[in-house]
Amino acid sequence: MLVIEDLVKTFNTDKGGRLRGAARTRDRARAKGTGANGTGANGTGASGTGASGTGANGTGANANGAAARVRAVDGVSIEVREGELFSFLGPSGCGKTTTLRSVAGLERPDSGEIRVGDTTLFSKGKGRSLNIPVNRRGLGMVFQSYAIWPHMKVFDNVAFPLQVASRNQRPPRNVIRDKVMSVLQVMELADFADRQATKLSGGQQQRLALARALVTEPALLLLDEPLSNLDAKLRESLRFELKRLQQDIGITSIYVTHDQIEALALSSRIAVMKDGQLMQVGTPLEIYQRPANKFVAEFIGTSNFLDGRIVGRAGEQWRLDTPAGPLQVSTGVPVRVGDPVLVAIRPECVTLRAGAPTGREPNEWAGEVVTRGFLGDSVDFVVRVADEELRVRSNPTVIFDAHDEVTAVVDPERVSLVPMS
Ligand SMILES: Nc1ncnc2c1ncn2[C@@H]1O[C@H](COP(=O)(O)OP(=O)(O)O)[C@@H](O)[C@H]1O
Ligand SMILES: [Mg+2]
Repeated sequence: MLVIEDLVKTFNTDKGGRLRGAARTRDRARAKGTGANGTGANGTGASGTGASGTGANGTGANANGAAARVRAVDGVSIEVREGELFSFLGPSGCGKTTTLRSVAGLERPDSGEIRVGDTTLFSKGKGRSLNIPVNRRGLGMVFQSYAIWPHMKVFDNVAFPLQVASRNQRPPRNVIRDKVMSVLQVMELADFADRQATKLSGGQQQRLALARALVTEPALLLLDEPLSNLDAKLRESLRFELKRLQQDIGITSIYVTHDQIEALALSSRIAVMKDGQLMQVGTPLEIYQRPANKFVAEFIGTSNFLDGRIVGRAGEQWRLDTPAGPLQVSTGVPVRVGDPVLVAIRPECVTLRAGAPTGREPNEWAGEVVTRGFLGDSVDFVVRVADEELRVRSNPTVIFDAHDEVTAVVDPERVSLVPMS
């Protein structure tokens, strides 16, 4: 359905672009051939925070430092099948957005080819040159910032892409109305059609952005971190709504995220990227169980993953068995008793207490501190629980030493489940 072949996109960071201050000065110096020492020209820029915890990467300028060019996308080839939700996953700055924007027609790659079905959207360096403009690619896009029009009502936000179509392609008013209302229905926004767009909640605004992307019935839906502005709970529920919706309407979709759990939970297949290159392409299970290299293993491994099984209900929560012990979780994920699930617990969602479990609350696991690493604004622990090693991230006032007996307490609201059947 979507084919990307040998895509390359470089940026000349010397022109300013995203680099500021010291980094830009340094790059300029390097471009002139002074002070070239090859220490990650891209040190600031978009890299740096790496919410995933694997640290920033920076795509680094070429080793001899001749010019401050970043290979944001460095020879990417993939095939996305009809109806798939295909994710690009990787740390900040690895080239996900640039790849997506190239498909959208918002970036002009240096070389490579992009095709959707029988239509070539972009080609350069393969004997012909072709670059279809954004508005003629027929793609739907949703980005991290909702990008809804605040001065418009919900209905008008969705109708807009149809209304601005050229005169001979614009549907008649009643057809526009029907199309808009049917998309709003699917998104459960029909009751809000006359409401001002800004008077919607964050989750509703993001559904509105999705409605607007879908109303033109695009051949391909492009999503760039569409959930990352939402709080954890809403993110998890929308994640599954998005997956259900994508499956219901069967639209081929490309999803960009730096969040391993999100990618595992949503995707048919995942491409893990680093420094503009593909590290591995596979199903969530393949990526998790058989990482192709150390980078993938470590990137996926920044959360605690446990193979669990649903064993019952406890009020509003599900009860699970895991190799670390029993667990209760609140989740919007549709599961049933007996289902195998991947239990994902982020290091910052576990708290440590001194001594043995009290038995007064669920999700207390007896453990022993294996190592401690001080990170300045946080402390990382490895805690042995049963036969598992759990990573725990605490604030720096929490002081335990190796061999201390502790209780690890897992917040039932912050456990993610990824169905694995
Ligand atoms: N317009 C630009 N000018 C200069 N460098 C850019 C530009 N856009 C992206 N880059 C660089 O390209 C690399 C990939 O960026 P991006 O595709 O945004 O990564 P991701 O979406 O994975 O975080 C980064 O090093 C980034 O700094
Ligand atoms: Mg990005």
